[in-house]
Amino acid sequence: MSWQAVVLTLFPDMFPGPLGSSLAGRALKDGIWSMQAHDLREHGLGRHRTVDDTPFGGGAGMVMRPDVLDTAIEAVTAEVVLPVVYLTPRGRRLEQSDARRFAAGPGIVLLCGRYEGVDERVLEARQVEQLSIGDYVLSGGEPAALVLLDACVRLLPGVMGSDDSATEESFSDGLLEYPHYTKPAEWQGRPVPPILLSGHHASIAAWRRTQSEDATRNRRPDLWAAHTSRSSSIPFQQQ
Ligand code: ADE
Repeated sequence: MSWQAVVLTLFPDMFPGPLGSSLAGRALKDGIWSMQAHDLREHGLGRHRTVDDTPFGGGAGMVMRPDVLDTAIEAVTAEVVLPVVYLTPRGRRLEQSDARRFAAGPGIVLLCGRYEGVDERVLEARQVEQLSIGDYVLSGGEPAALVLLDACVRLLPGVMGSDDSATEESFSDGLLEYPHYTKPAEWQGRPVPPILLSGHHASIAAWRRTQSEDATRNRRPDLWAAHTSRSSSIPFQQQ
């Protein structure tokens, strides 16, 4: 059984979108993962297939109805048990560990909201996990769903190729990745750091480690703080 991505959206045409190309697209064609995008309007009410209504308590915009969303979630989870995720700027920030967790399971149902949001009760009743891709507001959850799916799909066995990219990359050890260089050895008067041409593997590894640490300390003090508190709490291992 391939890894299953199920999307509930008012804009099914947005899928698979960019995930139909490149590594993810190849893996989709190879059957490593599958994608279904369902139109929430199929479960809409009445002649107009209504999916939203005005917010109780007043305020701008429309809110997606819990009954409509519940029927849509039921329709896709009746056969398989999959975690349901709602993409929202109110959610906890998406992390690499979330992608790893979802990729290790059978798949995911992604609920994409529009308008001002969705009725909170269906999120509680269906134990929907709420995730954000960052502190900015998109016009809908669809691009965020594509981001989350990309992060998961590339971790599926057979998608990335067999190299060490997945274990060496940024975040795998809580640090940003070191900078990369390729030919030519000098370009527009800028030489590659000489250590990389030295052939001394241990020195290169040490240099890369320092570069990772410096970049993390300077660019992402939040990650650096988490990294240093973690490494100082690991008891010293006698060799
Ligand atoms: N929907 C709108 N903005 C979003 C964000 N930043 N993350 C996830 N879903 C969203």
